[in-house]
Amino acid sequence: MTDEQLLQLANEIRERAYVPYSGFKVGAALLCADGTVFTGINIENAAFGPSVCAERTAFFKAISEGHRDFVKIAVTCDKKYCSPCGVCRQVMSEHAPDLEILMGNLQGTFKRVSIRDLLPESFTLLEDS
Ligand code: THU
Repeated sequence: MTDEQLLQLANEIRERAYVPYSGFKVGAALLCADGTVFTGINIENAAFGPSVCAERTAFFKAISEGHRDFVKIAVTCDKKYCSPCGVCRQVMSEHAPDLEILMGNLQGTFKRVSIRDLLPESFTLLEDS
């Protein structure tokens, strides 16, 4: 799975985003160590609080299907690039402390960062992190 393919999957799933309130569609594609990819979209709610970002949708789908070993996530939106929110960074840090993040857009260009860059000194209760 190339970076470009992962970004393409994020862009394809992005069309399914449920965003009647913000109108801002986000897509994510999470690559597991065994090559499996889980996609995610943002899903909003009239009560706002229950809304979930695309990145967390992908992570929670993967974890609930028994996957625990994550390599990379592509996130795309209709901006220069999509930088994950603070809540998603905390989730990434918990489940994938060495995660690589491809922050992409609809044109196919992207910025590569790591979760350690985006959330240094993250809160953890796990001794080996
Ligand atoms: N959103 C994501 O899905 N991922 C991000 O990284 C940033 C924000 C969503 C949340 C909300 O549905 C919409 O984008 C506008 O904030």
